[in-house]
Parts: sequence; C-alpha cells; structure tokens
Amino acid sequence: MTAPLFLDGSPAAHDALRAAVAEVLAVLTATDERGPFPSAGPARLRETAQAIEPLPDDAEPLGEVLADVGRTVLANGARVTDPWCAAHLHPPTLLTAAAAELAIAATNQSMDSYDQAPMATYVEDRLVGRLNELIGLPATASGVLTSGGTASNLLGLLLARDHAAGGANLSGLPAGAGRWRILASAGAHVSVRQAAAVLGLGRDAVVAVGTDDDGRMDVAALDRTLDQLAQTGAVPIAVVGTAGTTDTGAVDPLAALADRAAACGAWFHVDAAVGSALVLSDRLKPLVAGLERADSITADLHKLWWQPIGASALLVRSAASLGSVREPADYLNRTEDDDVLNLVDRSLDTSRRFDALKILVSLRATGRRRLAGLVEHLVDLAALAGEAVRRRADLELLAPPQTVTVLFRCRPDGVDEDRLDALNVDVQRRLLTSGRAVVGRTRYRGRVALKLTFTNPLTSPDDVAALLAAVAAEASARVGVAA
Ligand SMILES: Cc1ncc(COP(=O)(O)O)c(C=O)c1O
Repeated sequence: MTAPLFLDGSPAAHDALRAAVAEVLAVLTATDERGPFPSAGPARLRETAQAIEPLPDDAEPLGEVLADVGRTVLANGARVTDPWCAAHLHPPTLLTAAAAELAIAATNQSMDSYDQAPMATYVEDRLVGRLNELIGLPATASGVLTSGGTASNLLGLLLARDHAAGGANLSGLPAGAGRWRILASAGAHVSVRQAAAVLGLGRDAVVAVGTDDDGRMDVAALDRTLDQLAQTGAVPIAVVGTAGTTDTGAVDPLAALADRAAACGAWFHVDAAVGSALVLSDRLKPLVAGLERADSITADLHKLWWQPIGASALLVRSAASLGSVREPADYLNRTEDDDVLNLVDRSLDTSRRFDALKILVSLRATGRRRLAGLVEHLVDLAALAGEAVRRRADLELLAPPQTVTVLFRCRPDGVDEDRLDALNVDVQRRLLTSGRAVVGRTRYRGRVALKLTFTNPLTSPDDVAALLAAVAAEASARVGVAA
C-alpha cells in the first residue's frame, strides 16, 4: 500500500502526518546547533543548490529527503535564534505560532471569500478589531492582513491615492495627478517610494522631509516643505509618518504630523511596521502617541510580534475607505451575497493564507503582559547597547537608540575619516562571511554605518557586550593588517 498523499481525514493520513512531523522535527533539532550564518560562501551555496534535483521522476523516501535538506539547506541558513544574528528586523518566531502554521497549511483555507473560509473570515476580522482597539482607533475602524509591511504600505498609499481623487480606482489618475506629492521622512522605508511607483505616481512623487538629530521627521522642515509645495502648485495627498524607522528606530512626532495632514486635507498613513508592538506595553505606548490619529496604519506582526513570515496588517480608521479596493466578481464576492463578509473586498490579494490563525493562537498562548515584557526587554537592550557603544573609544554611536536599533561604526584610533567607510564595510563582511556574526550595514547621513537590531528576546546584555567587543576586535585586526 502506498503512503497517503493528502490529509483526507482518515486515520492513515493522520498517522502519516504525525510521522512526517516527527521527521521534520528530527531534522530541525539536528541542525539547531550552529552559528548565526554559514561559512560556505555564495559560490558554494549556489553549487550545492544546483546539485539538488527538485523534481525527480519517482518518489524518494521522506526521511531521506529531509535528512538531505537538513544537511544541505537548513544547515546553511541564517539562524535568527542566535543572539549574534542581529542585522535585520525579522525575529525568532513564537514556537506556538510555528506549530499553528501546520494547522494553516493542513487546512489550507483561503481568505478571499466566505465560502472558502467561513469562520476564518470572522476570526481575521476579530483579530484586526482587537489590534485597532489596542491602538485606540475608533469603532469605525477596520483592516486586513497582508503578506508584509511592503504590501501594507502599498495598500495604505493606494487608499491615500483614492482619497485624493475619488474614482482613480475606476478611471485612472486625473489630469492633475502629476502634481501630487507624498511626504515622508528621509528615514522612511524604501517601500513608500516603491508604492508610489506601483500606484502610477512615480517614485519621485515622494518628497523626503529632513530629520532631526534623532532621525525623527523634523516638523519645521515639514512645514517648510508644505509651504514650498503650495507655492509651486503641488498637492500633498499623503503625509507618511514612521513609527520605528528601519535604520535608527526613530518614531516621528506622529501627533504633529497628524495635525499637518489634517490641515492640508492629506491622508495620514503611519508605517508602524516596527512600532506597532510598542502599544502592547503601557510603559512604551506613549512613544507612539498620535498613532491612533492615522487614517491607515501598517502593523507588521512578523517583526516585534514574533510571528513567522508573513504576517502584517493594514489597519484603517474608517472601514468605508477600503471600498475603493472592492472589485466584485461573479464567482467570488457576488453583489447579491451581501449578508456575508468576503475579505477579498479589503485586499489586493485573491487567494490568501489564514495567517490570522497562527497569530491568534500564539497571542492567546502568550498573553499581552508577557509580550509587553519582551518588547520592553528589547528596547532596554538597545538603550544599553547604545550606552556600551558610547563608553567604548573604538566605536562611535551615530544615532541614539529609540526602539530596538543601534546605529554605530567602528572608529579605531589613528584611522582617518576617509578610510572609515571602507573599514566598516570590511568588518561587517568579514564577520558575515566567516559565519561569526550577522551585523547590519547601511548608510547614515552619507557614511557607512553598522547596525544591531534587537528582535530576539533571548539576547542578554552579556551577548550584546560580547558582540560589540567582537566587532571592535575585527576592526582593530583590520587596522593591524593594513598598517
Ligand atoms: C519601517 C518598515 N516598513 C516596512 C518594512 C517592510 O516590511 P516587510 O519586509 O514585511 O515587507 C520594513 C522592513 O524592514 C520596515 O523596517
């Protein structure tokens, strides 16, 4: 008898699933004791991948496939659970969320229509409602889950576009759209410019507003920009605030931005991909004061809410604003079926995963208080890392930590300013290619900067001190080599 291929509800299928899960777990635990990054370089990884046959003519035993995948694929991954894997904003996942992923995949409901996801539809709606309540949006609020912050920003800015000209969703951009501008800080995420391109406004419709010394949008600069736009006949259709920028973790002065957006009739979108998690904590929530005044909010749950990718939300102040997304289809969200909720009416996706399930399961199984403690730990860790950088003569803090990010560079004694960029590139690359540490590298105010992003609640102050010491030691070794 051949092994069941599908979950058909039979005992044989359940047994086969249980055995398959046990084999996956065996491989996962066997590959768990590694450093943060593989030391094999890109050429070797490519060669190893090319040697894999993804579609053999005949079946291979699952145990053998998984053993091979464990050795060649999983063992060569970035390991986000390692405290020295600290470059990016994607975190270790709550194990309860990872486990619930199995139920999502196994039941494979699609969130576009009620007749494909009956209870799931209302569960996502309930989850979104709870997020809105936590943020403090009014009862008119609504939202939808998306695959990530990029998708949420696109949807938020699409609503801004349609707010600027009712009917743009039907007949395209009006004649004056060439004068439309989106104002975002110079530290806003690249997906804002990308969204402007996708929406037909062009990337250059995004005006970068200057930031203060903390990397927050400078309100005086915003006022000047608005004046200049008015003088040239340009129309600000959206003000985008960022609650937790990618590189400095800065939170824009959201209430002031909300005032400016209201005064000029612009949509107020807040990219709280990072900062949305601060509302979990009574202590940290004041840092994002004004978030509740947004017309739309990007809240990533696969960042500081520790969900497996993808898990993000686009939240809106008024459910009616999502109306411009709705495109009825005779087979799907039929006009006559107005007694049911079809979430495709709120979404740019058609088929979509039931990601709300893993979120709901893991949030319930952790609890708000515990999650708040984890966010507070990471914010405290970033502050502590900032202090540690300040205390070291061989490191230079480039921006004060405000949420979970520390931006700095190596500055060993005796190295001229014009050699520092190359040195810092070299340090970051060597730590990465040797597999010792994944440290972020970006540019800040024209200079190469290193970045630690704390999303791993298991990271301790000792881990941070040791990582900073390793970065500084690498820089001093490079200076020794060059001398
Ligand atoms: C502030 C901010 N917004 C949006 C994004 C994009 O999110 P995603 O990677 O989930 O598309 C990021 C990613 O780091 C981010 O830092």
